[in-house]
Amino acid sequence: MVNEELIKKRKKIIDELGGLPEPKIQNKEWLYLLKEETRNSILVEGYFISEKELKEVLSGNKPMTRTEEEAFNYFRTASFIYGLAYENYKQNEFMFGIPLIRQINKSLGYKGEFRKVKIKIAGAKFNPPDTYIEDWLRIFIKFIKNIKENFNKLAASHAFFEEIHPFEDGNGRTGRIILNYILISKGYPLVIIKGDDKSKQLYYKSLEELDLQIKDIFEKFKSKKPEEKEILKRLNNIHSKILPNLILEGLRESMDRIIIGIYQEKGAKLEPVSKLLEEIGYSSKSSRQLIKRGKIIAIKVKNKWMSTKEIIQKLL
Ligand SMILES: Nc1ncnc2c1ncn2[C@@H]1O[C@H](COP(=O)(O)OP(=O)(O)OP(=O)(O)O)[C@@H](O)[C@H]1O
Ligand SMILES: [Mg+2]
Repeated sequence: MVNEELIKKRKKIIDELGGLPEPKIQNKEWLYLLKEETRNSILVEGYFISEKELKEVLSGNKPMTRTEEEAFNYFRTASFIYGLAYENYKQNEFMFGIPLIRQINKSLGYKGEFRKVKIKIAGAKFNPPDTYIEDWLRIFIKFIKNIKENFNKLAASHAFFEEIHPFEDGNGRTGRIILNYILISKGYPLVIIKGDDKSKQLYYKSLEELDLQIKDIFEKFKSKKPEEKEILKRLNNIHSKILPNLILEGLRESMDRIIIGIYQEKGAKLEPVSKLLEEIGYSSKSSRQLIKRGKIIAIKVKNKWMSTKEIIQKLL
């Protein structure tokens, strides 16, 4: 389990290296992250696309299958929206509101209109609101404008958006793009919420953990205008474990990729972590544990953990 402190230390390293690189497809680490996010995020919805197929979709203009279209829409939306987030980071501003939320949903291929019909979230043990959707969203917006760099609140905000479920469809993808928009606006890279069956179950469980703490609010304001003060107070007091951990774990992976990418550009050489550790007097056996706890900045290349001698000791 990676703790928050180690993520903040990584943030400091990125800042010292000149800040988060711009999320553009010419940057090889960003391209990798954007493609992996796309593949995983549409997999949550059940669309599988291979790396090779996605590459073809992004490069060509051949007619697309449904899955390819979902991938294309997701990739295009994420790239554009994260570019905007990056400008927030550069300007130290945070542009966010209902127009952006609607545009994300629309750009993903959905209506971008708030639903006027009742909806059930498959498997969830509460009902999302079916009136005053915009009022609920304004409370969500207010909440995230005050999150600072608190990962517990960031997790709560994602669950709250999903619980409002403002659109007829595309809520999961819209919400995951908003989550990364917030992170990038604060100078963090994106997190990939993994979409394979096991990971998806854990993601859903993480949302259920948060549902339990807030669902009575939806009950209380059922068909009524939601009261901002009371709801914000509740949101500020939410504590959960699973989703904050998924976010921290995802950040560890992405941040390490970005950090190592920056070093590689400066000419650093990738070497196996076990070898690098032995050189500084650690047993190579400890490497797995150290990586798991986030004590080593490393990336997996062809199933092997790699790092560079320039950063192997940074967090030890
Ligand atoms: N118990 C729950 N509480 C809150 N939100 C949930 C719960 N279970 C699932 N969700 C959210 O609902 C999303 C699915 O909603 P919807 O079909 O509108 O979105 P989508 O983008 O089309 O799907 P997907 O996220 O699967 O790609 C899930 O991805 C998840 O974010
Ligand atoms: Mg759907």
